Amino acid sequence: MTDPFGRSIDYLRISVTDRCNERCLYCMPEGYKGWAKRADHLTAAQIVSIARAASRLGFTKFRLTGGEPLLRSDFLEIAQGIGAFDNLHSLGLSTNGTRLAPLAADLAAAGVRAANISLDALDPAAYRRITGGDLAQVLAGIDAALANGLFVKLNTVLMRGVNESELPSLVRFAAARRMPIRFIELMPLTRTDVLTPANFLSLADARVILENALGPLSALPDYRAGHGPARYHECRDFPRARIGFIGALSEQDFCASCNKLRLTADGKLRPCLGRHGELDLAAALANDQLDAAISEAIAQKPEAHEFHADYHPDRPMTAIGG
Ligand code: 5AD
Ligand code: SF4
Repeated sequence: MTDPFGRSIDYLRISVTDRCNERCLYCMPEGYKGWAKRADHLTAAQIVSIARAASRLGFTKFRLTGGEPLLRSDFLEIAQGIGAFDNLHSLGLSTNGTRLAPLAADLAAAGVRAANISLDALDPAAYRRITGGDLAQVLAGIDAALANGLFVKLNTVLMRGVNESELPSLVRFAAARRMPIRFIELMPLTRTDVLTPANFLSLADARVILENALGPLSALPDYRAGHGPARYHECRDFPRARIGFIGALSEQDFCASCNKLRLTADGKLRPCLGRHGELDLAAALANDQLDAAISEAIAQKPEAHEFHADYHPDRPMTAIGG
């Protein structure tokens, strides 16, 4: 399906829960109290029905995210339901990795092929400061995902003064395991004290840090790892490294290649991460109006996000689907 700006929309990101067992600095809006009541969460069957409607309309790429998606006890049921679609091109998972180790084999068996794992630091104390969590669990999760044949990418959110010194070692770690790593500019989806200009580390500055430590980077314009917005680079001195940059703030044409819709944990379809509009899909499902609602969300896709226009989140990344 094509949106009003000629973009082909075939990718649905599904937040299966807004709950998380970590508390990443960049993820929670100030004083957020709006957790969806568990009863507001879509059931596994509802999620699969919505995804199936999207699949019939031409969506071929699905990603299960959150919150921390692996906190849902019926996660495998959701993955199996979507994993069985006929014209499925990819089923991915975005996770903080803390619960991955014991589940990786079951996930692979359920049809999950790819995992994006958040990793913002390799120093355990820095990791804990950023996320509140335990690095050792995440490293075990990464090993288990690789051992079970999942295609793993790492995600690192850039924060000046918080993890800038970690960036080169993260690249070495990823390259040694042949995992692409993506550096993501901090988006205004969180507490205002985190979002000061002093905390913002641009892609350009991150690149300088990496080149000083690792040697020159050069663009790989044709390299793709999954279906996201990253622009990949290689490093002359680390031939196995695949370094992606995601710059929602500093890249002018960031939204030009957008291919997705987002389904929130409580059943709202969001045309854009960086705009407030959403459609009520739980109601559309109850009224047998799913196709019309999904088409309407595509018709409502804006040309670009509003991050430069004093956008403030009304819900955290966990609810919208990171
Ligand atoms: N800015 C940029 N990236 C973010 N993520 C979560 N919150 C933000 C934010 N404010 C990213 C994390 C996570 C992915 C799902 O979303 O890297 O891996
Ligand atoms: Fe949890 Fe991911 Fe948000 Fe961190 S970014 S608090 S891991 S949902």
